[in-house]
Amino acid sequence: MMRKQIAAANWKMNLNAKSAEELINSLLKNSPEVKDNHLVILGVPAIFLEDVKRQIEGHDKYFVAAQDCSANKNGAYTGEISAEMLAGSGIKYVIIGHSERRQYHAESNSLLAEKVNRAIEEGIIPIFCCGESLDIREANKQNVYVEEQLKESLFHLSEEDFKNIIIAYEPIWAIGTGKTATEEQAQEIHHHIRNVISEKYGKVISGNTSILYGGSVKGNNASSIFGQADVDGGLVGGASLKADEFKQIIEGLK
Ligand code: PGA
Repeated sequence: MMRKQIAAANWKMNLNAKSAEELINSLLKNSPEVKDNHLVILGVPAIFLEDVKRQIEGHDKYFVAAQDCSANKNGAYTGEISAEMLAGSGIKYVIIGHSERRQYHAESNSLLAEKVNRAIEEGIIPIFCCGESLDIREANKQNVYVEEQLKESLFHLSEEDFKNIIIAYEPIWAIGTGKTATEEQAQEIHHHIRNVISEKYGKVISGNTSILYGGSVKGNNASSIFGQADVDGGLVGGASLKADEFKQIIEGLK
């Protein structure tokens, strides 16, 4: 996959059928021009996937993403949704390893490697989340920490498979806190992530990998963060629930 600039929404566990439909309607009304190298990916609760997918039909740069998939293929796992089910419903993207899943569902790097495998087996592109907590950042150990997350969950992949990975770097201390990483902090760690990928998979693949930033991205800070050389757009929580703000974020893509 060629490197894309991506505005990805992460609705988390918000909205209902009616407010979700309204949000998509407002988003598509006078929607900003989405350039050739841009994608808009809407990470919505599983129960809305099919409806939102239907609503965005005809908008060829818009896609839906699931927010998670099971590490298992199928079987007695009540409440879980498999990658095979997502693929069967035409879903092309899945968020894997969001910090809230790591924290509240004890998802480890090795479990996430399995989720990544299940997605890839079904031809679904993982949006793989990584990022450090505040204490790790304060100890200035974020580079090593994130490197380990990538190595343990992704670096078993072949070159062919790694080409289909999207990375989202989301420092936990910036998620939902209104505290974004500075442009310099974002660029520095994104550059590091690209280097780590390059060491493993080479310059061409690392140059083609989209690395998104997440953590309090808003309409008014998107373009300056996305403007950094190694930042290829964002994964957006709170601000993706407001149509006007998310449109501004789409417009902020370089
Ligand atoms: P936020 O969330 O934009 O509300 O900080 C980002 C995320 O968790 O993906």
